[in-house]
Amino acid sequence: MTDYETLRLDRCDPSRDHAQLAMLHQLQRDRPLHWHKGVWVLTRYADVFAALRDKRLVNRVPESDRKGLPFVRSIMKAIKRHREHDKKHWFHYADRPYHADVRRIMRDELTRQIPDLRQLFRSIADELLEKIDCNDEQSVRKGFVEPFPAMVAAELMGLPRERWRWFDECFGGRNDDGFSKGLRRIEPMLGQSLAKRGELPPGMIGALSDGCEADNLMSEDGLLPNCVLFSLAAYANTRPLLEQSSVYLLRNPSAIERIQREPGVVPTAVEEFLRYFSNTAFCSRVATADVEIAGGVVHEGQRVTFALAAANHDPEVFADPGRVDLARQPNPHVAFGGGIHACVGAAVGRAELQESLACLARCFRLR
Ligand code: HEM
Repeated sequence: MTDYETLRLDRCDPSRDHAQLAMLHQLQRDRPLHWHKGVWVLTRYADVFAALRDKRLVNRVPESDRKGLPFVRSIMKAIKRHREHDKKHWFHYADRPYHADVRRIMRDELTRQIPDLRQLFRSIADELLEKIDCNDEQSVRKGFVEPFPAMVAAELMGLPRERWRWFDECFGGRNDDGFSKGLRRIEPMLGQSLAKRGELPPGMIGALSDGCEADNLMSEDGLLPNCVLFSLAAYANTRPLLEQSSVYLLRNPSAIERIQREPGVVPTAVEEFLRYFSNTAFCSRVATADVEIAGGVVHEGQRVTFALAAANHDPEVFADPGRVDLARQPNPHVAFGGGIHACVGAAVGRAELQESLACLARCFRLR
């Protein structure tokens, strides 16, 4: 009988947290809807996939219910220390129409940027890799993994690239508590940039500002919180994935050799890293009605956590899920979530990983 007391619902790295992953697999087999410390947990791929798209399971969490919600706990802690009104402006935790309006602004701005992004990612990666020893893990971490996603985040926001240190200093390699501190630190920095937004090049800050002014889609109060949220989402999800994928490649020269020989494998390799590492391991919702799922019922007002990491390692869907298969196809992972909150930056994140890892593989010298 497994003791689920030690089950954690905030983070799980399937490549390292073997005991946690084993527990999630056990739940998949025995208790697909599991009640754990006041929260329902879904672990099977089919259930997670369906729940992500179920409109009765929402992100709008009543204030009283937010306490202890695992996925947002650290964020909520940070927000609590902030101005009280900020939380209702984070579009990710809002309902229609606010969520849809802000999401549209972000999606349109990323669509505008995307044609030029691959070239930009290649030039940033090449510039960084030129200066380091690409066969040395420490050198790759310091000179590539740290600055690359931060430089990309700065460019996406429309900040001068030199501001990349903001992202690294505020969120780089942090745990959840570190994120809370990071959020507090980055807010005044982005606030200063917003005050001079007329001088900034085009980017997400400008797009969100225009959204406020032109269409009245978002009140001025929502501007800074959503800039902060975007900067966190754009940087903090990409950085650990780049780190783990780079380290995996450096420690598995046969994988690098394959990418060098067969560069066309890079897109499926990135999908596999997204699945295997599942960096965003969990997300949560609240039921607005009784929802029958996984052979049970999540009652109205109850919280449910979707174990994306478990779903991405469900043997019913992914053969030999604990093995990295660079050419795995199909690979219908849920690393970017799904439904109305599906990652708005998925195409950008994919391009970022594909271009940066391809550049790293090119620079690696096989012995
Ligand atoms: C490549 C690694 C990335 C991963 C694994 C990832 C994962 C996710 C996941 C799982 C969600 C949904 C969370 C939920 O349903 O509660 C999400 C949402 C989001 N992501 Fe990403 N993400 C990545 C990169 C990015 C990038 C590069 C950007 C921006 C350019 C971004 C911006 C966002 C935003 C703004 C949301 C909130 C969407 C909404 O609530 O409608 N992400 N991401």
